[in-house]
Amino acid sequence: MYLILLGPPGTGKGTQAKLVAEKLGLAHISSGDMLRDAVQRGTDLGRQAKAYMDKGELVPDELTIAMIEERLGQPHAQAGALFDGFPRTMQQAKALDQALARQGKAATAALHIAARDDEILRRLTGRWLCPSCGAIYHEHSLPPKASGVCDQCGGTLTQRDDDRPDVARARLERQRPAEELLHHYREQGKLVDINGEQDVDAVTHDLMAAIEQTPAAPERR
Ligand code: AP5
Repeated sequence: MYLILLGPPGTGKGTQAKLVAEKLGLAHISSGDMLRDAVQRGTDLGRQAKAYMDKGELVPDELTIAMIEERLGQPHAQAGALFDGFPRTMQQAKALDQALARQGKAATAALHIAARDDEILRRLTGRWLCPSCGAIYHEHSLPPKASGVCDQCGGTLTQRDDDRPDVARARLERQRPAEELLHHYREQGKLVDINGEQDVDAVTHDLMAAIEQTPAAPERR
């Protein structure tokens, strides 16, 4: 099963990807996490990507496509994967279709999580992350038990540089899924719209219900 999570920045893709990938035993392939890791390690990719990420712009397709293709070729992705934040452009979508086809596979469903802009900005500017284990919190809607401390591993929580209000607004303006990208999956009968404004459990429920309807649902494999 190869699932794609689409949606503007901050709609809850990362939060849901962790939950759904774990429930279904899928590899969680997050382009944003991979790019931030490359920036932190100071790799060539990270140095090239940082300037775009700092401005809230998309990293060029040739960099992200090569990065995802490499990850898709690794053993842990062979039993299925959930893509979080990729594809975001038509070129990326076509590259993913081709990379899966080379392995005799195809995307199972594209799940589009949507929310209003004011809710998205509230989520982005109040987000806190654990750099040690990747857990995601929100200062109001999903606060940790002790302020600034990760519930899961005790790590010290931090905020992302690109969640500053000015960059968050720029990301929201520039990084909504383009209509042609949604159309690409709609015309294949794979696009499912999910209401991202519900609480986390309700969104997970709707995602799992949508996945259950796909031909590759776990019970029917
Ligand atoms: P990336 O890390 O992918 O950022 P994004 O798409 O902007 O998404 P976010 O991680 O900001 O949000 P999310 O939807 O995962 O929401 P989350 O679950 O954290 O990309 C970062 C950068 O890398 C991009 O700007 C770009 O430069 C580059 N990049 C990445 N992929 C690329 C690609 N394919 N091509 C080119 N460039 C690429 O939730 C947000 C907050 O809301 C959290 O605080 C959370 O606790 C809270 N929350 C979540 N769900 C709920 C809920 N249901 N109710 C209340 N609060 C909730």
